[in-house]
Amino acid sequence: MTDLLDAARAVRDNAHAPYSRFKVGVAIRAASGAVHVGCNVENVSYPEGTCAEAGAIAAMIAAGDTELTEVAVIADAPAPVPPCGGCRQRLAEFGAGTVRVTMATTRGETLTMTIAELLPGAFDQSHMAR
Ligand code: THU
Repeated sequence: MTDLLDAARAVRDNAHAPYSRFKVGVAIRAASGAVHVGCNVENVSYPEGTCAEAGAIAAMIAAGDTELTEVAVIADAPAPVPPCGGCRQRLAEFGAGTVRVTMATTRGETLTMTIAELLPGAFDQSHMAR
C-alpha cells in the first residue's frame, strides 16, 4: 500500500484544478500487478471536468488491464476524501466488493474501506437479468 500511496501523491501534483483548487491523486493496482495513476482534470465548462478515479481507470483500461485489486486516493483535506458517487460506481465496474480503497490526506491520515462498503446495494449486471 505504501507504494500505491506514493504513486497517488506524486500524480496529484499534476492535477489540473484551477477552479476548485482541490487536487486529487489516485493510484490503482491491477490484477497484473501494474500500477495505474490518474488526477482530476477540470474544465472551464465545469461539468466537463473529470475525477482522478476516472483518469486512473481510463489509464488502466488503455494499458490493457481489466481488473483492479487495490486503490489509493489522496487529497489535501481535513479528513480522508471518499470517492464521489459516480466514481464508486466506476470502481465497482472493475473491482470486487472486497477490494480495499485507502483514502489519505496529505498530512498522513488514512481511512480504508472496501468497494462494497462504499457502494452498498450496487446496481450490477444481475439487475438486468430477465
Ligand atoms: N474529485 C476527485 O477527483 N476525486 C474525488 O474522489 C473527489 C473529488 C475532484 C473533482 C473536482 O475536480 C474536485 O475534486 C472538487 O470536487
